[in-house]
Parts: sequence; C-alpha cells; structure tokens
Amino acid sequence: MKGKKILIGISGSIAAYKIPILVRLLIKAHAEVRVVMTPAAKDFVSPLVLSTLSKHNVTWQLFEDDAWENHVMLGRWADIMIVTPASANTIAKMANGLCDNLLLATYLSSTCPVFVAPAMDEDMYEHPSHKNNLNKLIEYGNHIIPSSHGELASGLVGMGRMAEPEEIVEQITTFFKKKERLSGKKALITAGPTYENIDPVRFIGNYSSGKMGVAIADALADQGCVVHLILGPSNQKASNALVKTINVRSANEMYEQSISLFEKMDIAVMSAAVADYTPTNTATEKIKKKKSEDLELTLTKTKDILKSLGAIKQDNQLLVGFALESVNEKSYALKKLEEKNADFIVLNSIRDKGAGFGHDTNKVTIFEKNGTETPFSLKPKTEVAQDIVEKIISLLPA
Ligand code: CTP
Repeated sequence: MKGKKILIGISGSIAAYKIPILVRLLIKAHAEVRVVMTPAAKDFVSPLVLSTLSKHNVTWQLFEDDAWENHVMLGRWADIMIVTPASANTIAKMANGLCDNLLLATYLSSTCPVFVAPAMDEDMYEHPSHKNNLNKLIEYGNHIIPSSHGELASGLVGMGRMAEPEEIVEQITTFFKKKERLSGKKALITAGPTYENIDPVRFIGNYSSGKMGVAIADALADQGCVVHLILGPSNQKASNALVKTINVRSANEMYEQSISLFEKMDIAVMSAAVADYTPTNTATEKIKKKKSEDLELTLTKTKDILKSLGAIKQDNQLLVGFALESVNEKSYALKKLEEKNADFIVLNSIRDKGAGFGHDTNKVTIFEKNGTETPFSLKPKTEVAQDIVEKIISLLPA
C-alpha cells in the first residue's frame, strides 16, 4: 500500500464511526489518505479526528467563503476512491449523476477506480430501487464492497451492515496486488458490431452490444494493462481510465486500426462481431424502390482481422479469438482456433439461455492450443471477463 493515494468519501450513516479506524489502518500501511464528506456525515464522525489521523484538511463544501474546492484535482489525485459508508441516499445520487455536494462532485470527476461500501438498514437494503441503484453502480464499473449480515443501527439483525475497516483494507490490498499483474503490458481489443453501408441511410449490421468486449477491456485495465479498445457502433463505455477507445464503424476501419496497433501489443482479444461481407459498392445516393419484386445486393468478403493478426503474430504476443455458434459448437471453435492461429478461443453458443448478444450474462468455454477445454457457468459478463483475463495472465509469455 506504500505511497498509494486513497481518497475516502464519507456519507451520512451511523457506520461512519468506523472510518477513523480505516484511516488509521491505511496510514499504518503507508498509504496517503485524504477525506471528503457529505455535510450529513459530519453529524456522525468528527472532521477534526479525521484530519488529525489523515494529516490533511477534511472538506465537505463545494465552496468555502470565497474559495472553490477543487474536486476535479482531488478526483484525479487519487489512485482509488472509496465511498464508505455509502448511504442509500448517496448511492442513489451516484447512480443518477446528481452532484449537490462535494463528495458527489468528486466522485463524478474521479478518473480512478471507485469502491463503494454500502451501509443501511435491511429494509432499505432490500428495496428494489436501492438494488437497482447498486446494479447501476456496478454497470458503471464501480467495485462494490458487499455489506454483511449482522447487527444494525435500528437494533434489528439483517443485511446492510457495512464491511469492517479490516475487510475494506484487505479488498484494496488485493486490488492493488492484482493490478500490478499486467502493468507495463499493452492490449488491443475489438468489440461491438460493425456497420457496412449500403447507401447513405442503410447498413448491414448485427445485434452485438459490445458489452463483452468492453468488460474485457475494463478487466485488463483493472490489472494495470494499457488497453486500446477498437469499438464498433455501440453505446457501451469503458469505465477505466487506462482504456483508450477508438470508435470505428465498418469492418475495414476496424481492420486498419487493428493492423496499425498490433505490432506494439502484448495481448490482442478479438471479441467484435465483424461483418463477414460488405456491399461491393456503397451507393452515394439513397437507393430508390424499384418496380421489380427483388433487389440484388452484391457483397464482398471483408478482411478477417483475427486471421490477419494470427498470420503475423510473434512468440511474445498472445492472441484470443471468439466463436459464436449455433450448431456443432466445439468443432467450429477448434477449427477457428487452428485456422486463425489464436492461442485460445472463447466459445459461446446462442443455444445457451442468457448467452451471447445483448445479454448482461454469458456462458463460455475456452479452448486452448494445447487441447485444454475449460467450461464456465452462466455468469455476468463482468465476471466472464475476469475469467478470460485470468486465462490470459496464465498463458502470457514471460
Ligand atoms: N473475426 C475477425 N474479422 C472478421 C471476422 C471475424 O476478426 N472479418 C473474428 C471475430 O472477432 C472472432 C472470430 O474471428 O474473434 C470468429 O468470428 P466468427 O464470426 O464466429 O467466425 P467467422 O470467422 O466470421 O466464421 P463464420 O461466420 O462462418 O462462423
């Protein structure tokens, strides 16, 4: 933890009494700690105690006298931000982009990974609107430090008790350790669909959402890897600042960007659903309806990006492909593994419920060059991404 810059955001919850202990533990582990609070949090824990322990002023106002508190710089200063305790109110505001206090302004302008440790009474914790808000925070790439079952401020016993300071420190320590596993490495990811223009108003596309590829980009970046994400038309956004997104539209644009970057990459993951064919000619004007019942469109094969990278791949580079199949899944996946010279292929079948395009979950099997086959259960795409990253780390040439 030495030298790590940790920003703690405290919101109004009785569990705030534990934060001086958290600050003390982090300082003892040689981290640099700064604290921001919501105005309500001051009723639960003393700013004086926190500033004494952290050795820095503690702030809770966007403006003090005539001075503006620079939340942007604070958000950029931090290696990680931890919102703890995160009350139901603060979580709801974070999930919806509200910005009416210093903690929220700092959260919105932070460029670092953000951890959230919820604390509230069980009935609030179980409320669907709170669960929705928490899911939104996960979707935005925040890391949730789960609450546990135990004694609550109301005197009841149930879910919603904030994680203990020791547990929070453990999670952060693991995060920093993990992060270092891919620092200094560079990765290229293709994701999303491609759109092939027929005329100025029509295109050939597919239902890929880009969720799987963006989750892989974030999971690699969470391990300290610098990631170039070449993203087809998609409304998905990477949340980690180490991900540099290059937006493209067509298979050919995706090919050009991939080829120009690949030489400098240690890792390449081709998760995009690239069009296999593109209109041979794109009409410059809108194609008008004809008298005949049929319209013929001539298509030309696109360049296979994965195969092209496989042909120039060096021994120190790791290449990962995807296969989305509907029949003979295993034999097609193995064929792609060999023909495209990938190190492993991630297979998903559209026959599996909850897998493939558009879903938040996926069910994959990984086939490696050495014949190893690893099936995984149906799980959120963010977790599938982590499984894929673990496989990458285990196979990455030294
Ligand atoms: N791929 C690619 N460039 C293409 C087509 C596919 O990089 N022009 C990559 C995909 O990103 C994926 C893998 O190749 O990693 C397999 O894609 P898929 O569409 O399943 O297979 P195809 O090779 O296109 O074959 P088919 O559509 O016949 O299954």
